[in-house]
Amino acid sequence: MSNTIQRISPIEISQDEFKKIGYQLIDTIADFIETIDRKPVTTGETPTQIQEILGNDSLPEHGTSASELFSKATDLLLNHSLLNGHPKFFGYITSSPTPIGALADLLAAAVNPNVGANILSPMATAIEKQTVKWLAEFIGVSPSYGGILVSGGNMANLTAFLAARTAKAPKSLKESGLANIHYEMVLYCSKGTHTWIEKAAVLFGHGLKAIRWIPTNADNKMNTDILSQTIRNDLTDGKKPFLVIGNAGDVSTGVVDNLSAIASICKAHDLWFHIDGAYGIPAAVIPQYKDLFGGIKEADSIALDPHKWLYAPLEAGCTLVKNPQHLVDTYSSHPVYYNFDNNDDEPSLNYYEYGFQNSRGFRSLKVWMALQQVGKSGYIKMIGDDIALSQMLFEEAKKHPELEAVTQNLSITTLRYVPPGYLQDEKMNETYLNTLNETLLNELQGEGEVFLSNAVVGDKYCLRACIVNFRTSQKDIEEIIEIIVRQGKQLHAKLYDKIPTK
Ligand SMILES: Cc1ncc(COP(=O)(O)O)c(C=O)c1O
Repeated sequence: MSNTIQRISPIEISQDEFKKIGYQLIDTIADFIETIDRKPVTTGETPTQIQEILGNDSLPEHGTSASELFSKATDLLLNHSLLNGHPKFFGYITSSPTPIGALADLLAAAVNPNVGANILSPMATAIEKQTVKWLAEFIGVSPSYGGILVSGGNMANLTAFLAARTAKAPKSLKESGLANIHYEMVLYCSKGTHTWIEKAAVLFGHGLKAIRWIPTNADNKMNTDILSQTIRNDLTDGKKPFLVIGNAGDVSTGVVDNLSAIASICKAHDLWFHIDGAYGIPAAVIPQYKDLFGGIKEADSIALDPHKWLYAPLEAGCTLVKNPQHLVDTYSSHPVYYNFDNNDDEPSLNYYEYGFQNSRGFRSLKVWMALQQVGKSGYIKMIGDDIALSQMLFEEAKKHPELEAVTQNLSITTLRYVPPGYLQDEKMNETYLNTLNETLLNELQGEGEVFLSNAVVGDKYCLRACIVNFRTSQKDIEEIIEIIVRQGKQLHAKLYDKIPTK
């Protein structure tokens, strides 16, 4: 080549500028965290308003300085986001993110190891392996469980689903596909199971009819007598049961199924026992909850989300498998363009063989650091406090004449606003209560004092508070009660006159 390319890449940032922007950014984030409780949980801006604030510029032809971009991006994000790090955020199951996790993500991105193969990420692979081992220890199953970090609960469950299928389907599945298996493979889960199961059944070719939705008892736990009976009926009908899912706890009410009973049924019929513990299984770390989670050691696989109750910043899920060879049997392939096993003396752990992804980010760092920052004892305290606050919310609601406390499990409480005189007033009925509470939830979500989500329990439309939030305190719980009652009262005053008279 005649000309040397003098490369000064426009995307590079000089050391001085990097430091300046970085220090400023850290200062801004530190202030943001320090003052987060004084901000609204959400600004309630509509998508149109957000679009206006963002602007509608076309793709830039030329660059802008990094510092200018950072001041713009920090303003957009810190002032126009829903703040799930706020002490009064209780929506869905998204936690306040650990500050150490935010810093860990910066470090992970700076090094950028590709944790698909050991050769591309020697230290990161070892850290992920240790994290997986610690997570197994944390929830009290054998540290010999292996697994992989994934993006979240959906992926953790989907990853396990396919391992279950590989283990229980005929060996010909890999070559010949489902169409050549001459019986229907069916699976079992309670009606409270998260929607990932529908995705799995559809995407992996079983169809929704392969799901046997087992009814729940009055306590919202799977009815295991019906489970047994349904399996027996399927066997009589020539179907092939392969998988039972137990919830620990379920997405709406946090209830933990009777895992020991499910484990015994799985053993009796040689079925794969999977636990969806995406939300609740970290509570197994609390000594008083050992019995509630009895049976987890029998699980063939477990989904667990550090980005839920271990407070990791999004995204971090984890699939644990009792015999990790099932993951390798499911996901491994060895194309000629991979040279990842170049040391015969010491076989590598290559995470691309454990799941869907090839190139993989360094998700484990933020989890690994948080586990060490506070240790198991720190988590026992934080998870225990979340549960105690949730129980307090339930008890306060129970005492309040205008609230109905509906369910309380782990750190999820469901409740609803019930106007005074409800029972005596023929104009009001369950339909009205449901409309009132749904409208109340929508108003609360837009106003930014508190963020709750919803659950439908039986036929009741409920407000649902899921506390996976190490910033929430007793004061927040007392204030939430006041907010719900104040808003409920005002809304009822508006809606009552609109109830059609019979
Ligand atoms: C029990 C359970 N499983 C799975 C999921 C899905 O998790 P993710 O949203 O991280 O995919 C959730 C989400 O709330 C859940 O509660």
